[in-house]
Amino acid sequence: AMKSAFVVVANRLPVDQTTDPDGTVRWRRSPGGLVTALEPVMRANKGAWIGWSGSSDDGDERQEPFDEAGMHLIPMQLTSDDVEEYYEGFSNGTLWPLYHDVIAQPVFHREWWDAYTKVNERFARAAAEVADEGAVVWVHDYQLQLVPEMLRALRPDLRIGFFLHIPFPPNELFARLPWRRQILRGLLGADLVGFQRPGAAANFLRLTRRMLGHQTQADRAILADGRIVRAGAFPISIDMAELEEIARRPETEARAQEIRDEIGNPDKVFLGIDRLDYTKGIGERIKAFFELLNEGELSPEEATFLQVATPSRERVEEYKALRNDVELLVGRVNGAHGRIGRPAMTYLHNSFVRTELAALYRAADVMVVTPLRDGMNLVAKEFIACRYDNTGTLILSEFAGAADELRQALLVNPYDVDGLKQALLQAVRVEPREASRKMRAMRRYLAEHDVDRWANTFLEKLAGRPEL
Ligand code: G6P
Repeated sequence: AMKSAFVVVANRLPVDQTTDPDGTVRWRRSPGGLVTALEPVMRANKGAWIGWSGSSDDGDERQEPFDEAGMHLIPMQLTSDDVEEYYEGFSNGTLWPLYHDVIAQPVFHREWWDAYTKVNERFARAAAEVADEGAVVWVHDYQLQLVPEMLRALRPDLRIGFFLHIPFPPNELFARLPWRRQILRGLLGADLVGFQRPGAAANFLRLTRRMLGHQTQADRAILADGRIVRAGAFPISIDMAELEEIARRPETEARAQEIRDEIGNPDKVFLGIDRLDYTKGIGERIKAFFELLNEGELSPEEATFLQVATPSRERVEEYKALRNDVELLVGRVNGAHGRIGRPAMTYLHNSFVRTELAALYRAADVMVVTPLRDGMNLVAKEFIACRYDNTGTLILSEFAGAADELRQALLVNPYDVDGLKQALLQAVRVEPREASRKMRAMRRYLAEHDVDRWANTFLEKLAGRPEL
């Protein structure tokens, strides 16, 4: 069987399955920045990517590994029970809310934990099989936190990196997890554990000291057998050049104008683009907009809100409840302030291709990113990438990782409705020169700190010796 010197292990494969009208199934590279960033490394090392296709599959029809877009792809099959217990259950019903400040109540089920362990074991075995002697294996995100330890037990020769894309909570929250020690031990199987923000790395090191009694320093834990596990912040980014190229196309500009025409050519367009997730603060921002309309501070001719909510994790209870809440609120706003043929806000529960997203970013005046907690938030960075003419204002929550880097954004506390309202008003009234100065500064920062730099920084650190 084929062996790779570089292996990525993630819950999802970097390709989407599409079905042609005639029923033929095809795979297409999904647009994420992660794939783009890793492509050169993948090509140079006969890279393999282990992940789930997104479908559940109870039959015994095996999905064979295949090559696509220069990568060797190894599909992991999940049964409908696995999807329910490992993916919807432990990953998104337990870990996701726990790691995001308990915005929703995490549910602890021992059956879910068992399924999580079992599925992590399968991913680890698949990685052990495909990795060449001494290979580098990069494991991603909260769905697979046990893989580093499991993989090291099977293959002590490997160099193992782990990156957590979401926040890592402080002791006060993490300590609730009945399996807290197992998760920490799982992560400590890696040589390097990466986080989005320095505070998350500090939380992790403090926990390994307190709960497992390991010795720690500012950037590492030293295990009983002397092995060193480094931990640090590696803020993820986007492929700025690629997005900017799409944004600059004449057809994107034409589509952006068309979007503005279709929503009635208001003076200002507020835009939100999020997965429909309770961490994103979608209700908070709509509420702020609603109050400004109610109080006559804004009129629908002056400003309209365009909210894209991408369907996500739709079988998880909390997500169903959120959808109901958001859609009720949108209905209220339009019921009170819409006129025939001119809603006060537009809400789209749909996912869009990249070219349409770029047109939306171009059509907006104010990007409203108000998560209650977010590992990074790449939407904020994508908006900036598309504003090559240095126009537009970014409203950004302090509780998104991106707030560490995008200091010229209008930073807000999304729990503070009055503060949010003020920020919305400030954004529509800003001096164009001031807006452009801020946008320019953020664009300069992002041009330097793109996703290639993120991947290279992590991989260089992983390849280096611990004393470096
Ligand atoms: C977040 C997580 C990813 C996840 C993505 C989409 O960004 O960090 O691991 O893939 O959300 O969620 P989904 O459940 O559809 O994979």
